[in-house]
Amino acid sequence: MIVILCANLASLGCEPSPREPRSSTAKVAHAPEVETTPSPRARLADELSRAYPSDAPEIASTREFDLRAAPTRVQQFDGQVLDVWAYNGTVPGPVLKVKLGEEVLVNFRNDLPQPTTIHWHGVRVPNAMDGVPGVTQDPIPPGGTFTYRFVPKDAGTFWFHPHVRGAEQVERGLYGVLVVEDTEAHPYHKEQVWVLDDWRLGADGQIDPRFVTRHDLAHDGRWGQRITVNGDAALELHARPGERIRLRLVNTSNGRVYRPDFGALKPRVIAIDGMYTARPLDLNGFELAPGNRVDLDLTIPTDMVEGGYPITDRFTRRTITLATIRVGGEVVKTPGFEPPSNPNVPRWIEAIEQPVDKEYRLNARRGGPHGIQWTINEKPWGEHDVAVFEGGQWVRVRFKNNSGRLHPMHLHGQFFKVIARDGKPVNEPNFRDTVLLHPRETIDIGMVPLDWGMWMMHCHILEHADSGMMTEIEVRAPEARGKEEEQ
Ligand code: C2O
Ligand code: CU
Ligand code: CU
Repeated sequence: MIVILCANLASLGCEPSPREPRSSTAKVAHAPEVETTPSPRARLADELSRAYPSDAPEIASTREFDLRAAPTRVQQFDGQVLDVWAYNGTVPGPVLKVKLGEEVLVNFRNDLPQPTTIHWHGVRVPNAMDGVPGVTQDPIPPGGTFTYRFVPKDAGTFWFHPHVRGAEQVERGLYGVLVVEDTEAHPYHKEQVWVLDDWRLGADGQIDPRFVTRHDLAHDGRWGQRITVNGDAALELHARPGERIRLRLVNTSNGRVYRPDFGALKPRVIAIDGMYTARPLDLNGFELAPGNRVDLDLTIPTDMVEGGYPITDRFTRRTITLATIRVGGEVVKTPGFEPPSNPNVPRWIEAIEQPVDKEYRLNARRGGPHGIQWTINEKPWGEHDVAVFEGGQWVRVRFKNNSGRLHPMHLHGQFFKVIARDGKPVNEPNFRDTVLLHPRETIDIGMVPLDWGMWMMHCHILEHADSGMMTEIEVRAPEARGKEEEQ
C-alpha cells in the first residue's frame, strides 16, 4: 500500500515529474531513469508514511461486544440517585478492550427515546463505520439496531459517543472508552482509564435538561459544577511506593478543558490522542480539551511519604481536586523498561515553508434555531461545500479563531500535527486528532490523509458543534483520482 502511495505522490508532487503509467508500481520502477528530486511535499508525505500504517493489520480474531443505549437510573457522586442515559447501564459506559489485530464487532441497540449513532473518536475506521448521521449512515431509530465492525489500525486510547444531538446525548451520560492494546504488553504494575467529565445539575440534583442554551453558546459550551473521574467525585487510586502505572485520561466533557496537575508526582506523557509521542514528555501545562486523551507513565518514587496526593485541575483559577493517589504499603521494585514511543513521528522541518492550502475561520453569528450560530468560514453546518483533500498528499490547514471563545477542533478519521501557532513554527513531537484554539489564536496543522471518505471536522465543544460549527471534508483515494484523470 505504501508503495502505491509513493508512486502516486511522485506523479502528483508540486514539481514536474515524468508522465508514467500509474496503474502499477512495477512499471514505474522499470521506467527509464529520470533524475527527479522529490518535491518538499513529497518528502513530507514520505516521512509520514513511516509513522503509522495506511492499512489495518490482518485480522487475527474477532472480539464481539453487545452495547445498548438506554435511559437508566444510577447512583452517582456520593450515592445520589441520578437519571441518565447510559451504555450498558453505567456512566461512563464500558471500557472495550481489544488487541491490535483484533476485529471489533459491536451489536448495538438503541433503546433511547431519540435516534442515535456511535462514533469511534480517533479510530481510523472504514468510513461507513464512522457513525455520522446523514453522511456515513442513517440515524438508528428508537428500538433499532446497528452492527459496527472494523479493525483498528492503531493501538491506543480511544472513545466512543453518539453523533446525534451530541450536546444532549453525551451530557446525559453516553460515552465509553475503547482501548486498543499493543501486540506486546508493557509490564506496568497496573493500568487505569480515567474518564473526566463534568455535570450541570439543576436545583433538583438531576441533569439540567436545558441543552444548547444561549448561555452555553455565548460561552465555551456547557460547563457543569460537579466534576467526576469515572463517575466518582472523589476517586482514589491506591499505589505502593515503586509502582509503575499507566493512566489513560479521556476528556468526555461537553465543553470543559482540564489542565491536570500531579503535584509532587511526575508522570511522563507517552501518548496524545491515542498515538505514542516521539519520546516521553513532561505533562507541564498540558491542556486536555474535550475529545483529547493523554496517556501517562507514572512511577511512585520509592521514598514517597505515605499519604494522599491530590491530582488537581488548574485550567481555571479555581483549583479543583480531580482524584487522589493514596500512597502506602510495601515498597515494590520499579520495572525499568523503556516507555513505549513512536520515534517515527515526522519532524516535518520543511512544513513551515509550505503555503497554507485551506483556511478555516471560526466565529459566531446571530440567528439559527438557538439564537446564536457558530460558524466555519462564516457559514454554519449545512451551508458548506465539501472540501476535497487528495489522499496521500501532505497539506497545510489553518484554523483561525476570530472569536473570543475556545474551540477544540477535531477531525474524524485522520491524525495531524501542529506546525505553527500564530504564525510561529512549533514542532510538537506528537500527533493529535483534536487541537484546542484559544481566543483569537491561529493554529496551522500539517497532515497526510490516508483514510478515504467523507469525514467531519468540528469543534468538540458540543454546543458549538450542534449550533453549526461543523463541516465536512472528503478524502479522495488515489485510485479514484487516477480514474478521473484518465477520462
Ligand atoms: Cu468525538 Cu465528531 O467527535
Ligand atoms: Cu471523532
Ligand atoms: Cu467551539
